[in-house]
Amino acid sequence: MFKHLLVAIDGSHHSLNAAERAVELARRFDASLTLIHVARRFHIPDSVKAYLRDEHLEGEPLYDIDAATRKVIDDVRKEAEDAGLQSIQTVFKEGRPARTIADYAAAHQVDAVVLGSRGLAEPEAFLLGSVSHKVANLATCTVIIVR
Ligand SMILES: Nc1ncnc2c1ncn2[C@@H]1O[C@H](COP(=O)(O)OP(=O)(O)OP(=O)(O)O)[C@@H](O)[C@H]1O
Ligand SMILES: [Mg+2]
Repeated sequence: MFKHLLVAIDGSHHSLNAAERAVELARRFDASLTLIHVARRFHIPDSVKAYLRDEHLEGEPLYDIDAATRKVIDDVRKEAEDAGLQSIQTVFKEGRPARTIADYAAAHQVDAVVLGSRGLAEPEAFLLGSVSHKVANLATCTVIIVR
């Protein structure tokens, strides 16, 4: 039923919680698990860009991944490995989070997207964060929102 699960990580404890559920589901369904983080690109000043170009150092885009996100990704990968998952991958993308997550899911035969109900925004003003809300609307596959 679930062969490929996509879990969205923003570095919040909600996303860690969601990822723990995703690991458990992937284990039960023998599914592959992809962790996705939608990041900002590092702002590189033009002078530095020119230097990188001159020195032929241009390569992969540099994403602005914060320490909390790296920690969640490392912890989840470890949990997934300990749970014996055979196929775990991490992808970094740049763009609008909800649209990027939904597009990735559609393009990669994802059976379910797993997200936290909330993310990094502090005040608990809304019941559901805007990314979870938008992914639930945009994705064509099953969406699991973990509370
Ligand atoms: N940039 C992102 N990359 C990957 N997943 C994300 C990203 N932002 C949010 N998510 C996912 O969406 C879930 C809900 O976060 P969301 O951003 O919707 O809530 P919020 O931060 O509390 O509120 P808002 O951002 O709307 O002010 C997170 O737990 C995470 O699973
Ligand atoms: Mg957010």
